[in-house]
Amino acid sequence: MKPTIFITRKLPEAVIQPLKEKYEVTMWNRDVQAVPRERLINEAQRADALLTMLSDRIDETLLETARELKVIANMAVGFDNIDLAAASKRGIAVCNTPEVLTDTTADLTFALLLATARRIVEAAEMVKQDKWRGWSPLLLAGQDVHHKTIGIVGMGKIGEAVAKRASGFEMRILYHNRTRKPEVEKQLGACYASFEELVEKADFVVCLTPLTAETRNLFTLEVFQKMKKTAVFINVGRGPVVDEQALYEALETGEIAGAGLDVFASEPIGADHPLLKLTNVVALPHIGSSSIDTRTAMMDLCVKNIDAVLSGRRPPTLVNQDWVTKGIVQ
Ligand code: GLV
Ligand code: GLV
Repeated sequence: MKPTIFITRKLPEAVIQPLKEKYEVTMWNRDVQAVPRERLINEAQRADALLTMLSDRIDETLLETARELKVIANMAVGFDNIDLAAASKRGIAVCNTPEVLTDTTADLTFALLLATARRIVEAAEMVKQDKWRGWSPLLLAGQDVHHKTIGIVGMGKIGEAVAKRASGFEMRILYHNRTRKPEVEKQLGACYASFEELVEKADFVVCLTPLTAETRNLFTLEVFQKMKKTAVFINVGRGPVVDEQALYEALETGEIAGAGLDVFASEPIGADHPLLKLTNVVALPHIGSSSIDTRTAMMDLCVKNIDAVLSGRRPPTLVNQDWVTKGIVQ
């Protein structure tokens, strides 16, 4: 019998074709709607591999009955939707899609920063809605980006790529990270700052941290109050890193000038979300890595990770490094 793979979202035929030759592939055939939890648990019970999305919760309860499962390939760089310890304990490899999405996500981060600073969305809507009546001295006047200070919270690969773009705009670059990055400091002239110093000094506070126990609710009302009144907050990391009620309050009372958000505490958000009522908010539907090339590369990498583990090889982008000793590969 061929090993079984369950894919939790509709992916292009061309991507999964290589898997079909060697494996029994089942796919949840919806593009936008996530697979219902019950179906996911059922499929996981007989699957040797899961190809998952960041919207699928892979927790202890699911893993407990997933007795055949050997690999989870998550189509994202983040893996906060997966209980790593529970997977490691059972010898299940967890894989993500780093590197291939770095530049694309940095491009989106910078696009969102520029759009928020220069009020691009408001301006474009004005024209499309036939509300443009003439040139005016301060029509939709926004914030300058060039020569300002960017503060990057979470200096991983994407943070570095954002810093590179910021240096092209001749920005002063501050960053905060668990570990210092001397190479980045040398190459891009980025300066390490404490979290407090960064939020106080930056004109653009850019959040790119993964969601962990330490970063959950990192941006509180107190933090927003420490920012400049002209500061723009950008979040392309994970929604739960921000207290959204506090962000709303900070934006409404003028503690900060604007926010560009690609991620939210609970996704998707609907039109009734309080933050959408504010004109100084640019909201995007979690599209950081969404270029055709990059999303295709992410799918291909998931396929490679699954094929490697099911063929008894170490997967190219393994997350749980303690896996090898407990897993099928010795
Ligand atoms: C997207 O948010 C990802 O983690 O890839
Ligand atoms: C703007 O278009 C200007 O000419 O100042």
